[in-house]
Amino acid sequence: MKTANFKRRLFGIAPLLLAMAIAVAGCQSDDPAHPMSTMAPRSDLANWCYGLFMEVTAWDLLILVIVVIAFILAVFFFSTRVGEAGPPTSVSSDLGLEVAWTLGPALILLMISIPTVRLIFRTQPRAAVANELPITVIAHQWWWEFRYDDGSNVFTANELHLPANRPIRLKLISADVIHSFWVPRLGGKRDVVPGQENQINLIANVPGEYFGQCAEFCGLSHANMRFRIFVDAPADFASWEQIQATPGAAPADGTAASRGAQIFADSPCTTCHTINGVSKGYIGPDLTHLASRKTIASGILRNDSKHLTEWIEHPGEMKPGAEMPNFALGGDQLNDLVAYLESLK
Ligand code: CUA
Repeated sequence: MKTANFKRRLFGIAPLLLAMAIAVAGCQSDDPAHPMSTMAPRSDLANWCYGLFMEVTAWDLLILVIVVIAFILAVFFFSTRVGEAGPPTSVSSDLGLEVAWTLGPALILLMISIPTVRLIFRTQPRAAVANELPITVIAHQWWWEFRYDDGSNVFTANELHLPANRPIRLKLISADVIHSFWVPRLGGKRDVVPGQENQINLIANVPGEYFGQCAEFCGLSHANMRFRIFVDAPADFASWEQIQATPGAAPADGTAASRGAQIFADSPCTTCHTINGVSKGYIGPDLTHLASRKTIASGILRNDSKHLTEWIEHPGEMKPGAEMPNFALGGDQLNDLVAYLESLK
């Protein structure tokens, strides 16, 4: 009777266990629908974090199994029903049990803390290595500035290109408040703190596009502070960097883009944005090669004429709190300016 009851209850929780297993399996995928899964690591750093997560989860599972078995034994095999037995006897102490439940948790904590502390030290800034690519990452409310410190004089925003299989050193600094640099599949997160330089060292293994996100609440548009990392094959990275390092060609005379260039040069835009050879603003992103980027407005909008137009018309509505003002350009002026921005390849 007791055994039948037990089996029925066990089958009762089986669907729940199955659903949990499927949910966990769904986390580990290359599915483009989950571009920010930490369960599909693509760098040495992300692999270490993933390995630690699996190791700790294995210990947690062991604890879960022990607790569940103890629970099932207590409920179904060592319990008594009303009227089945006399009153329980009291035991004032049991040395064996007390030693066991002190040593057991201490051992488990040790097994979890040893690999955790080891990984914390392993991910700290290491001495410069050969062929390392140093990049300064500056977090702003609410966008990311990237400066390549390899002598190439390349500045970009919100889209970081990295060569695959080369050691990268990211120096993280903040222009205003505390942010956090996080690219789930390449590792992180690490806080970006005003007045302090933090670092992330990593080697990205697999070319591809990776999504990043500020992971520390930093104001109104914190959730709009996104970015992308493109890991390129070394030859692709070299040609990308070469293009970025040279000023773009001025648009041909008489085109909409050339009229737009004049509008830009005469506008207050120049006080905030740099275009190599045109302006030297530094408050907003460098626009020298804006058209080579996939997104605008810190990764929240696709970089096409429709979104560029909307962004220039209503920056505060697209990204609440954005410092970029609306200069009330319209009609042909706006179209020409957008044509110019789209020519900045
Ligand atoms: Cu920057 Cu949140």
